[in-house]
Amino acid sequence: MLKQLYEQSGSFIHKGVKLWPLDREKKWGFIPQVKAGQYVNQGSILGIVLETPLFEHRIPVPPQIEGNLNYIHGGGKYAIDEPIAEIQTASGPREVMMLQRWPVRLARPYLRRLIPNELLITGQRVIDTFFPLVKGGTAGIPGGFGTGKTITQHQLSKWCDADIIIYIGCGERGNEMTGVLTDFPKLMDLKRGRPLMERTIMIANTSDMPLAARETSIYTGITIAEYYRDMGYDVALMADSISRWAEALREISGRLEEMPAEEGFPAYLASRLAKFYERAGRVKALCGKSGSVSTICAVSPPGGDFSEPVTQHTKRFVRCFWGLNKGLASARYFPAIHYMESYSEYLDLVQGWWQREVDPEWKILRDEAMQILQQDYKLQRIVKLIGEDALPDHQRLVLEGAKLLKNAFLQQNAFDEIDMFAVPKKQFLMLKIILRFYDRAKEIIKFHIPLNSIRELNVLNKINRMKEKISNESLAQFDLLLRQIDNEMNELEKESRAVL
Ligand SMILES: Nc1ncnc2c1ncn2[C@@H]1O[C@H](COP(=O)(O)OP(=O)(O)OP(=O)(O)O)[C@@H](O)[C@H]1O
Ligand SMILES: [Mg+2]
Repeated sequence: MLKQLYEQSGSFIHKGVKLWPLDREKKWGFIPQVKAGQYVNQGSILGIVLETPLFEHRIPVPPQIEGNLNYIHGGGKYAIDEPIAEIQTASGPREVMMLQRWPVRLARPYLRRLIPNELLITGQRVIDTFFPLVKGGTAGIPGGFGTGKTITQHQLSKWCDADIIIYIGCGERGNEMTGVLTDFPKLMDLKRGRPLMERTIMIANTSDMPLAARETSIYTGITIAEYYRDMGYDVALMADSISRWAEALREISGRLEEMPAEEGFPAYLASRLAKFYERAGRVKALCGKSGSVSTICAVSPPGGDFSEPVTQHTKRFVRCFWGLNKGLASARYFPAIHYMESYSEYLDLVQGWWQREVDPEWKILRDEAMQILQQDYKLQRIVKLIGEDALPDHQRLVLEGAKLLKNAFLQQNAFDEIDMFAVPKKQFLMLKIILRFYDRAKEIIKFHIPLNSIRELNVLNKINRMKEKISNESLAQFDLLLRQIDNEMNELEKESRAVL
């Protein structure tokens, strides 16, 4: 597509250039899954096309068509607009081709909604462990300039365990799109060892492209997402950013001379946003398989002010909110997702998944860690007034525990080979290590052991570096670390008892 565009108009797209979005010349090998004479419903899978080695494209019967199959081709190669089958519908025979059309502003039909209770693994610790997203969930990433919205979305596109990724560059810089285009073909899918590009669809509507196209781009994206969902796939859709879409809506509405509401946005901003987010979800598709569409939208509030309408409305509709904090980002602390400004309403839904797939203790550890972070948040205000030294040891230990959680667990480098992606098991073990250290320290501090001796333990250095040192493949090393914590703590306790 890009190549053809380049041939027609060079590096920049000129006015009036027309191209079919899908190649009409290319022939695809079609493998039928049903036989002539069989009855097919809307959405049933007629056959498959191996579109890329990573992805099997299942060709469905278009919505609102059902009946007996008069014929179905098989084994050959066909262009997408050649008939591959004919269905005898109530109103006469209808030829079906691989190409399907659908109005983008209308949600595609499905059988029924399912409860989304499966974790969408992203490999990002602050997300999976603290503010998890489910397959079929909705998430918003609001943040001021340069707080890491784009990088977070790139990380999710690279690592999340969806079958298909749809990335919409909606009104953001062109070089970011180029970045994805050059990065992704080099990256490999972890499970199948193929370039990630083979499961990624990009919709480019960068800031220099027409407004009307930008306003439509998120609908185009979500319709494509629904199309793949209907084949029984888990789709993750990233939009960067929904604020630019809302701005396009505002400009179009202004030119239509509609009455402006809050901050110049049209009065229907909220209902349009709701309609868009509503299309996410886990469903039983018409073909009988279950599929999901998860939406992850960046929100760029002007001046980082979360009280503006787009952020506020997004907050009403999404159930997972990853608030990026300017202070953290400027301290180069990434991901800058702040634990006090974020939430996930999917926690209860994914609890079962974590306990079943990773460890039954997950919820206990997560709650304990969150409690330490919250206590720390309160204590930090006192520290600002009177300094850390004025606090009793058990409160200083809370600060120490929270520091460990922030530096050794929550902070994650998107550019480090090992740290960029942590499997859920690694996330759990890391949390276990930190909390073991904290709990043991809490026990022995009762014996009047100074906090400084705990801070000087050798194992602490190892804990701080475990995220970059222990890879997803060598999780057994965490056992050694656990033992080392116990040994060093026991030693310290013995020494202090001897002094007493
Ligand atoms: N997880 C991360 N690990 C390491 N560095 C990061 C991470 N997230 C963000 N950064 C750093 O922050 C910079 C800005 O991030 P990014 O471009 O994602 O911000 P943004 O919120 O999309 O900004 P804008 O509003 O300008 O689009 C990146 O260039 C990168 O250096
Ligand atoms: Mg950005």
